[in-house]
Amino acid sequence: MRPLVAGNWKMNGLGSGLSELSSLKEALAASPPPCDVLVCPPATLIAQADALVQGAFALGGQDCHSRPSGPHTGDISAEMLKDAGASFVIVGHSERRQNHGERDGDVAAKAQAAWRAGLTAIICIGESEAQRYAGDANQICAQQIDGSVPGGALAANTVIAYEPVWAIGTGKTPTLAEIAAMHGHIRTTLARRLGEAGRGMRILYGGSVKPDNAGEILNLPEVGGALVGGASLKAADFLSIIEGLRPS
Ligand code: 13P
Repeated sequence: MRPLVAGNWKMNGLGSGLSELSSLKEALAASPPPCDVLVCPPATLIAQADALVQGAFALGGQDCHSRPSGPHTGDISAEMLKDAGASFVIVGHSERRQNHGERDGDVAAKAQAAWRAGLTAIICIGESEAQRYAGDANQICAQQIDGSVPGGALAANTVIAYEPVWAIGTGKTPTLAEIAAMHGHIRTTLARRLGEAGRGMRILYGGSVKPDNAGEILNLPEVGGALVGGASLKAADFLSIIEGLRPS
């Protein structure tokens, strides 16, 4: 599977920020990337972004409701994201789990909604700092996979993002050995749960990925790309993360 480098803009980005996407588009046209590239801007910008980037890279949402439509004020369905130009949606990000009380079952329903709309689901998992210190990280991640990844997941419609909660936006990352070990554990868990599909599914690492650590992280075994927050907001930083995948 071709690696995927994905940017999650979170609740950042006004219309003026679309110029970063123009810069990204121009740079990727000049030097084709060694991976698939995805940006998940706020939902308010997806349609404009789609008109601007014209397929130069993929666009995605950051969350979706499990239902296609209905009386859910303020929510956005997977079908709406698709209609606006998205081909991916992030589900179960730890900020959604923490701030909106989303549980594994909710995340699984959202992943199924993504597939229903023809989107690829990026399902996020990851342990808290206390869970890692207690030695529970492997068990927590396996539990989240069992609860959040629906049984019918395929490598073509599902990506897993391992994002240790304590590494998000903190500048802290696990050691390379810890990332490699966790990705190996996630691979084993996916293969046990999904068979062949689990062996081919991309597993992204997320949490304080920056231009200066991307190369070593992205080249670890079983790391199939990155989910990048803060460093995806500026095209120049995001591009140097993408470049981290090029053999030196
Ligand atoms: P940072 O790259 O800002 O740590 O965020 C990671 C993340 O949460 C991506 O979804």
